[in-house]
Amino acid sequence: MNNFTFQVGTDIRFGKDRLEELAPVLTEFGKTVLLVYGGGSIKKNGLYDRVLKELRDFNIIELAGVEPNPRIETVAKGAKLCAENEVDVILAVGGGSTIDCAKAVAAVYGSPDLEPWAVIEKRSYDGPALPIVTILTLAATGSEMNRGAVITNWQTNQKLGMGGKNLLPKVSFLDPQNTFSVSKYQTAAGSADIMSHLFENYFNNTPATDVQDGISEGLMRTVTKNCPIALETPDDYDARANLMWASTLALNGLTGSGKGGTWSCHAMEHELSAFYDITHGIGLAILTPRWMHHVLNEENAPQFAQYGRNVWGITETVPMMAARMAIQKTYDYFKDCQIPMTLPEVGIKDESKFEEMAQQAVAYSKIATDAFVPLQVEDVVKIYQAS
Ligand code: NZQ
Ligand code: ZN
Repeated sequence: MNNFTFQVGTDIRFGKDRLEELAPVLTEFGKTVLLVYGGGSIKKNGLYDRVLKELRDFNIIELAGVEPNPRIETVAKGAKLCAENEVDVILAVGGGSTIDCAKAVAAVYGSPDLEPWAVIEKRSYDGPALPIVTILTLAATGSEMNRGAVITNWQTNQKLGMGGKNLLPKVSFLDPQNTFSVSKYQTAAGSADIMSHLFENYFNNTPATDVQDGISEGLMRTVTKNCPIALETPDDYDARANLMWASTLALNGLTGSGKGGTWSCHAMEHELSAFYDITHGIGLAILTPRWMHHVLNEENAPQFAQYGRNVWGITETVPMMAARMAIQKTYDYFKDCQIPMTLPEVGIKDESKFEEMAQQAVAYSKIATDAFVPLQVEDVVKIYQAS
């Protein structure tokens, strides 16, 4: 296990009906709030009204309409609102896109001398940032308890991750009831994203990480058990609660700290979203089994076999056979969640952009050198073709 520092100071308020705690939390930071939200789901399910009722004594400025795969123009608009209104605190109410947008707004507002996209392109941010409070409405990204954000620039077909410790949310409200209204499609996509965050850390070359791997396997079993329940019964509190807490723990450093390497499927998926604006978790579900097939070899087969044994109960003892069965299980699981499992099904009908996307995937990440199995441009093209 490698050396690491684990300091994730987000104050988590997990559970039912805790919105009366919102006003006291925000008061600590000030009275002028930038309320950030997406395309309207919080208006449909009543959360918007409940939040405004709690914040009747605050000065509320709104940044509405944050897109899935949030765009730099929306971030820039938010930073302008902060400057014009002397905002004290940012409240993000939504999924990962809304929370990521809030983080990027804080970073861009904290960098008045730079163009908005230049702030994102720096990839790491250590400047001043307005405090961020979140109310999570979709179990997926872990953005509610991590320092990262992913922002898209449509002018240049770039989707880049950035982050910094000052962007870590101060407080996050995790009420599973707020996810009852998430569609089947987004529930499945979010669960695939959680699984992918776990895979990305789990399939790794750092030895002796039993703690991280055991936690990951437990979280994977949690997702594979609870996602089908949530798909069948959207208002099953326990299923939604387990998915929500799994999403947070899958990407708050718990399963990745102490490990080296870099992530593979996310680097490849971000290009799909950057060129075709597809749903992040769906892209990951499509790519993951193909990536697993591509990188499987005699040396790493025991790791896939261990995953198969501890997550899927596969009893086959020949590592390569067990590994193949585990990969098939992964594919079948995503398919059973009604995820469209090919690129043409999500509108990527030809290969014309694969080379360019693969070049960007390699250029914007360290997959060519540091990945579990290093991936060159031609590997990425092959994985896209197999998808
Ligand atoms: O925009 P609204 O109307 O709110 O609708 C959203 C959106 O259409 C809807 N939704 C969210 N909560 C809902 C709901 N619909 C009904 N009821 C609710 N309670 O779901 C749709 C998708 O929302 P979005 O926020 O885009 O989903 P997600 O949480 O999966 O976030 C995806 C974004 O996060 C990035 C992805 O790349 C993508 O841009 N990621 C962020 C990470 C991070 N910050 O650590 C890591 C991830 O790997 C990921 O890259
Ligand atoms: Zn992800």
